[in-house]
Parts: sequence; C-alpha cells; structure tokens
Amino acid sequence: MKRLLVTGGAGFIGANFCHYWATTHASDRLVVLDALTYAGHLASIATLEAGGALRFVHGDIGDGALVTTLLEEERIDTIVNFAAESHVDRSIEDPASFLKTNVLGCQALLEAARVAWQKPDAPSSRRFHHVSTDEVYGSLSPAEAGFTERTPYAPNSPYAASKAAADHLVRAYSSTYGLPSTISNCSNNYGPYQFPEKLLPLCILNMLEGRVLPIYGDGLQIRDWLHVSDHCRAIDLILQDSAPGETWNVGGSTQDPNIAVVGMLCDLVDAAFTAQPGLAMRFPGSAAARGKASRSLMQHVRDRPGHDRRYAVDSGKIRQRLKFVAATDLAAGLAQTVRWYLDNESWWRSVASGEYRQWYARQYAAARK
Ligand code: NAD
Ligand code: DAU
Repeated sequence: MKRLLVTGGAGFIGANFCHYWATTHASDRLVVLDALTYAGHLASIATLEAGGALRFVHGDIGDGALVTTLLEEERIDTIVNFAAESHVDRSIEDPASFLKTNVLGCQALLEAARVAWQKPDAPSSRRFHHVSTDEVYGSLSPAEAGFTERTPYAPNSPYAASKAAADHLVRAYSSTYGLPSTISNCSNNYGPYQFPEKLLPLCILNMLEGRVLPIYGDGLQIRDWLHVSDHCRAIDLILQDSAPGETWNVGGSTQDPNIAVVGMLCDLVDAAFTAQPGLAMRFPGSAAARGKASRSLMQHVRDRPGHDRRYAVDSGKIRQRLKFVAATDLAAGLAQTVRWYLDNESWWRSVASGEYRQWYARQYAAARK
C-alpha cells in the first residue's frame, strides 16, 4: 500500500490522476496539496473528497513547514509533483510567478522530502516523481526525429525554462543527496477537466458560445497530443517499475498541425449538434445553432512570441522497458473530450468565470493587434 502526496491535484492532470488512482489503487492513501490558483478547482476532485477517497489540503508547495508536517503525519512514501504554473502565454506576461512555483516551489518540496526521508523512522520505500514537459527540449524542424531522453535541453519560453530548471534540481537532489526520484517529460495532454485557457477546451467552449477560434500565426505548428488517461497510466508504470534516477519521455505519436486538430474538433461539435437537436436550444449563440459550420469561427491571430514550431516525442524507452502504449487515438480521444464538455457544462461554467473572462478578453484583444 502506497501513501501518496499529489501536489497540484486540483489542476487538470493532477485531478485526472487522482480519479485514476482512486479507481486503480483503491486501498492507497491519497493526500492532495494544492494552492488553488486560478487553474486549481476543487470541483474537479469533489466527488473523491466527499467519498473519502482523498484528503485535500489547501497550501503551497513552497511552504516547507506545511509540506514537512504532511510528509510526517501522513507517513508519505510517494510524492507526485504536478503543481506548477502551466500556461505558456501567461509565462510570457508574468515570468516571475513561474520561477516562484516551478523552480523555488519545486526546490522547497525536494528539500522537505530530503529532510523528512532521511529520518530514521522514515518509510523504507520512497519515491519523488516529478511531472515535466517535452517543452524543455525546445522546437524541432519538420524532418527532425522526436525528442529522446538524451536530447539536449533548449527551452524557449519562460514556462519551459522554469520546467527545465526544476528538472535539473530534481536530478541534482538525486545525484547529490541520493533522493530517490524519477522524471517524466510528457507531450500535450487533453481530456476532461482541462482549464479552457489551453487550445482544445478553449476552442470547444468558444464554439459553444459562438466566439472566434484564435489560431496563432499560420496554425501549422505541430504538437504531439496525448489523452490524459494515458499520461496517468504512464506515471503509474513509472512509479511501479522504474529505478530511481531515470527519466521517461511520454508522447502520443500524433503529428497534426493545430489548424487540423481544431478542424477535427469543429466537425465533432457540428456532428453532435446534428445528432442531438436539443444542443441548439442549450447553446443558441453557437455557429451550429445558427446553421453555420463551426469552422467558420476559425480566425488567424498574431502569433505567440517565441512560438515553438514542432514537438514530437520518441516514446521508445517507456514502450520497450515499461511496455507503455498510448491506448486512446486522437480521433477517439477528441470525440470523448467534446462529449465530456457537453455533458459537464456546470463544471466549465464554474471555472470559466470572473478572472478567466477578463484574462481571455485581454488575451484575445492583444492577439488581434
Ligand atoms: P494546471 O495548470 O491545470 O494545474 C496546476 C495545478 O497546480 C493547479 O491545481 C494549481 O492550483 C496548482 N498549483 C499552482 N501553483 C501551486 C503551488 N505553488 N503550490 C501548490 N499547488 C499549486 O496544470 P496541468 O496542465 O494539470 O499540468 C500539471 C503538470 O504537468 C505541470 O507540472 C505541467 O508542467 C506538466 N505538464 C502538463 C502538460 C499539459 O499538456 N497540460 C504536459 C506535460 C507536462
Ligand atoms: O507540450 C507540453 C505542454 O503542452 C505543457 O507542458 C504545457 O503545460 C501545456 O500548456 C501545453 O503547452 P502548449 O503551449 O503547447 O499548449 P496550448 O494549449 O497553450 O497551445 C497548443 C498549441 O496551440 C500551441 O501551438 C499554441 C496554439 N494556440 C494556443 C492557444 C491557447 C493557438 O493557436 N491558439 C490559442 O488560442
């Protein structure tokens, strides 16, 4: 039986991980530590908390005293660190907050684990798993092979630089202090509970409300999309079977340009409106309700500064050694995701209010200049 501290467990991937873990490892102890920033939502894990499947603690990974108390009182043997500022566009507006959480916060968490796990009565089996990103490797040209675990780091955004710094700190704590750690560098996730600042949920919600779908630059940038459930399973395999000190790249092996992925989403939303006439009544502002194709909402806007052109992940190591294969293909995963947002309107209405509306309006106005 493991006793896990899941940091950032009220965010997109962390919440999915908690649902996954509570289902697949029901006898384990789950403690979530989350600062509930604009991106953290208790609603995403409320059913788990209400059912006693996890304990939620509101707090910051940078608060060493709080983390130490949790590690000791809960006898935590496994830390999975999802907590981060995660949106590239926000890192361009406000890099300092990314350094604070992603670098200093991560270091404070590492330090608390190092100290707590050195004590004589510490749990005998221990693991610090750090959730990182393929963005640390920078951008690929069209013909270049995918990122491997040996690709040199070349981050281009303040977000990616902060994640790269955290990865180096995790490595340093492993080499210097023997902290038993692993790192996963994953590609773009999508699926339920994703905050609508990210491309796919942003486009789904904008379609439902008849707003423009902003395509940065020419829209030919390529991302390697992975369904979040596959990411959670990959982390599970790493926690079970990886030796400490290892890093693992995780990707979905997709190579579609943004404009094509948004086009697929548009067609899925239009098909849902055709199959379910009641949707036009629920979303009267949508293009589909007004007899137009959702693709008519796509609009090219100013590009993101320093925008990485292409990511592709070589998942050969985790496939060969841990037998990981992404189970959800992009078409099926997008269809499931569109269905989830249609079925969970109260969730996205509750998270996409206030601060989000103001931020989006500013962001979109700037992108049109
Ligand atoms: P998210 O922005 O949806 O969630 C981040 C969570 O961390 C939120 O619940 C937030 O409240 C919490 N948090 C932020 N600062 C905190 C702090 N100082 N202390 C405690 N909690 C804090 O992010 P996500 O998309 O779920 O990403 C989770 C992790 O996975 C991040 O580390 C990100 O870099 C990494 N990652 C994300 C993707 C992706 O496609 N979303 C891909 C690869 C890696
Ligand atoms: O690759 C992994 C990374 O994927 C994670 O580490 C990050 O936390 C996560 O946010 C994501 O980063 P991206 O920048 O790739 O995701 P985003 O959804 O912001 O953008 C996806 C692509 O779509 C990117 O090429 C930018 C583009 N885009 C994005 C938005 C928000 C648009 O064209 N229009 C938009 O409105």
